[in-house]
Formats: sequence, C-alpha cells, structure tokens
Amino acid sequence: MMKYYLMAPGPSMIPERILLEMSKPIIHHRTKAFESVIEIVRGQLKSVFQTKNDIVVLASVGSGGMEAALVNCFSAGDKVIAVNGGKFGERWSTQARKFGLNVVDLEVPWGEAVQIEKFSEVLAKNSDAKGVLCQACETSTGVSHPVQEMGEILKKKPSTLFLVDAITALGISDIKTDLWGLDVVVTGSQKAFMLPPGLAMVSMSDKAWAFNEKAGLPRFYFDFKEELKNLQKNQTHFTPAISLLQGLKIALEMMHEETLPKLFNRHKRLAYATREAMKAIGLELFSKSPADSITAVLSPPGIDGEKLVNLLSSKYNVTIIGGQDHVKGKIFRLGHMGYCGDFDVISLVAATEMALADLGYKNQVGEAAAKATEILHKGLI
Ligand SMILES: Cc1ncc(COP(=O)(O)O)c(C=O)c1O
Repeated sequence: MMKYYLMAPGPSMIPERILLEMSKPIIHHRTKAFESVIEIVRGQLKSVFQTKNDIVVLASVGSGGMEAALVNCFSAGDKVIAVNGGKFGERWSTQARKFGLNVVDLEVPWGEAVQIEKFSEVLAKNSDAKGVLCQACETSTGVSHPVQEMGEILKKKPSTLFLVDAITALGISDIKTDLWGLDVVVTGSQKAFMLPPGLAMVSMSDKAWAFNEKAGLPRFYFDFKEELKNLQKNQTHFTPAISLLQGLKIALEMMHEETLPKLFNRHKRLAYATREAMKAIGLELFSKSPADSITAVLSPPGIDGEKLVNLLSSKYNVTIIGGQDHVKGKIFRLGHMGYCGDFDVISLVAATEMALADLGYKNQVGEAAAKATEILHKGLI
C-alpha cells in the first residue's frame, strides 16, 4: 500500500469532513432543509468572492461557467478582447467566437503575464469592445495576470465589462471582486473549494446585470436571471447538484474557520516553498509571474516532463500534471491548493526530486525537501 497524493492543478484533494457530508443520504431540493443549505452557502460565498452580489451556482464544470458568463452578458457581433496566454485563455476566446462574438485576441507568450501597457494599447484601439476576458491564474502556464490593475482601468469604461476566470485563483488569492471592478468572476468546485468537479459559481456586478438585460445570445439552461429569481427564494431553477452543494456548505465553513487572510497566506507560503524548493535543485520556473495555486517548472535538459509525471504516478503514487500543447514534455505543474498543507508540499517536492534523480538528473536528493522544510518551518516569506 502506498498513500496517494493528488497534487495536480485541480481536481484537488477532498477533506474527510466534506466527503462524509456528501455521503449522507440525499434529501429533496424543494424542502426547507435544502433551502437552509442554499441560504448559508449564498451568504458565505459572497464573502469568499468579496462581493455584495449573489453568486449563481450551476451544476456544471468551470467551462460551463465560462460559457454561461458569455451568453448572459453579450449579443452576437459584440466585440470582446480575450487575453490569450495559455490553454484557458484560448478556450474562452474560442467559446466566444463559437457564439458569434467578434473576438480580438490579445496574444501573450506562454509563461508571461499580460503587460498593462500592451493591454491599455489594445483597449484604446478597440474602444468599442463590450468586454474583456482574462484568467486571474492561467493554469496551463502557472501565470497570475494583473486583474487588479486591469479592473482599475476598466472601472472607467462603463460600456465595457470585465470578465475574470478565477477558477484557480478564487479562494486561493485575495481576489477583491467589488473593490477591483471585476464584473463577472467565474470559479469551479474542484480547486480551492476542495470538492469534486461539478459546480460552477459565477458572480455578476450591477453593471453585468445591466448588460444581462440587453444580452441577446440564446440561453436556456444557463439563464442567470432565472437562477437569480430562484436564488432569492433560496431555490435553484433546475435540480441542483444536491450533494455537491451540501459539500460546499462544509467547504465554506472550513474556509471561514481558517479565516480568509490565513487561507490566502497559507497558499502564498506553500507556493513560495514549492518555488524555492525547485530552484534549490537547479530548476527554473516556467512562469515569470507565478501564481499561488500551482507552480509550473521547466523540465531540465534531457529530462522529458511527461516521463517525470508518469514516474511520479507509477512509482511514488503522486499525481502531478505535465505541459499542454507546445510545452508538452517541456514543463511539469505542481498543484498546492485547497486542502493542502505544509507536509503535503514537503512530500510533493521530495517525490519530485526523487523521480528526477531516477531519471538521471544530477541532483542531491533531499535538497528540495530541505529547502521547503526550512521555509515552512521559519515562515520565510
Ligand atoms: C483557469 C481555468 N479555466 C478554466 C478551466 C476549466 O474548468 P473545467 O475543467 O472545470 O471545465 C480550468 C480547469 O483547470 C482552469 O484552470
């Protein structure tokens, strides 16, 4: 028997407390008992999203939340600027194009964050854009985009919405939805919220709700107005993912017990320890603006990142993920979000350095774990 570690950029590990809650016999959703679950979830989600507005919770994966955001805000032919610096930027851009939006791609080299000067330039050239789409964390590259600064710029543009995919950022980093002017924020259940995949959560600002009134794209299942009407009665439009919502209630309870400042700080420390551990064995980070949820590392010369991922799984029972598209085999990605603590990260970097040594990398096994341990022990940040 070998203990299993799920250290991917999502899904993330699920605490026993949540698993136990979700294993309870199912209840019906049109009952007072379930309404009280929604009532609690509604209130607590607002504080994690840092918004005064209700959060629409959909039975869907994150990509559904991204699609729902588009169809609830825009009409065919509307121009949107899509920050495209990785797999998920590309996905939102493609979704928007499929729905007939006029997409201007703001191409960003993989591994880099969008530059504010470049963003302002593209925005000035496309002053008729109705929306800007951007990832808070581009999971395929481990990059954190400057959504706070972008939000400040877009706050001054009443006819442009700012839509943020925060699927690997919300509940990990301090994302101030209302304060920063993030009109639509999308997240999913399988990352910071420590749940299985299956819930998408989307916040809408007052400005976004005003766009919703005029949005002409067809929608039926993903109709935010219908969802909001029901949510205000602590109900959902369709049959909700009942067990996941019960699990979400516990996840939110756990997040609030820890307190949000401590939760953000924990992710910062874990990310810092992971980065420094990788650097301590001579590795280079792929991301020039690293996120707190995942760490993307360049595979050293002569070592295939895919082989490393496979060996970590087959020999050490640790799941990490490799690169996608043109960085397949060239990078590997370590997840440290949600139900993840100091000793998970120490195990993660220890397993990584062992597998690297197995593949012929000339590292001194133990150095990465020692660096992470030192940082987490002394709180060097
Ligand atoms: C930044 C980002 N956007 C979108 C998605 C897509 O989410 P899902 O796989 O739940 O559809 C992911 C999933 O990893 C993600 O990390």
